[in-house]
Amino acid sequence: MQPDREGRVALVGAGPGAADLITLRALRALEAANVVLYDALVTADVLMLIPACARRIEVGKRGHRASTGQDFINRLMARFAKAGARVVRLKGGDPSLFGRAAEERAFLEAQGVRVDVIPGVTAASAAAAQFGFSLTKRDTARRVLFATGRTARGAAMDWAAAADAEATLCLYMGCGDFDDIARALIARGRAPDTPALAAIDVERPSAALIKTTLARLSGLLAERGSDGPVFIAVGEACQDARDADADKRDRPPAPAHRSQQI
Ligand SMILES: C[S@@+](CC[C@H](N)C(=O)[O-])C[C@H]1O[C@@H](n2cnc3c(N)ncnc32)[C@H](O)[C@@H]1O
Repeated sequence: MQPDREGRVALVGAGPGAADLITLRALRALEAANVVLYDALVTADVLMLIPACARRIEVGKRGHRASTGQDFINRLMARFAKAGARVVRLKGGDPSLFGRAAEERAFLEAQGVRVDVIPGVTAASAAAAQFGFSLTKRDTARRVLFATGRTARGAAMDWAAAADAEATLCLYMGCGDFDDIARALIARGRAPDTPALAAIDVERPSAALIKTTLARLSGLLAERGSDGPVFIAVGEACQDARDADADKRDRPPAPAHRSQQI
């Protein structure tokens, strides 16, 4: 660290998991970093891009499990930056989507620390690419709604907007409560047989797809279980999702890659 140099923090999107899905700008920020604070969702593949001379600190937050407090993370970033360090705060996907970028930026700027944001490939885009569907579709999927299945302190959620039959609902952190969410969507008029999918461990060797209907998805998710991240989509656009294994059949040894179509 160089105390005479002005430190700064870059909030960097690590993408869904595969190292070749981070941007060149993100790679350059990692190469220049003195300290990297990374989330639990960042994969070993991406961590390998951090230079050996940089200090790395895991500050993972894991849903309902034990995690690092946001205040602690904020103070740590500010302390390193004020000591002259180039700090990278490495987050899964895109920092601006359910990544607390606004909170971290506000805290750091209030402390006089310069902040840059480097976008990443979000889970929705990566899932669509990996599993062969598009988030929008002319005539049937005219709108996209990014939503979280979890609110701070369990505040109630209003699912009225997600009942729109022409919208693709992209649900983050929705796996644990999807039974209730699906009921709420159906109660507000979304058809039970609306195509729906769960994209599990997107862009990781254990990637898997469950393609089914809104009414059946929570049961299938419970049956399968998953320790990894799960992205859920609901809407006509999901109808096109397909077994990625089918494409890989005539390729040389593929990584373990399961898929389920029901
Ligand atoms: C805290 S949010 C972070 C989202 C992230 N900023 C993004 O843009 O993808 C974490 C949720 O994102 C989704 N997610 C992130 N990475 C994923 C992946 N590789 N596969 C499936 N879902 C993923 C899951 O719904 C997970 O619970």
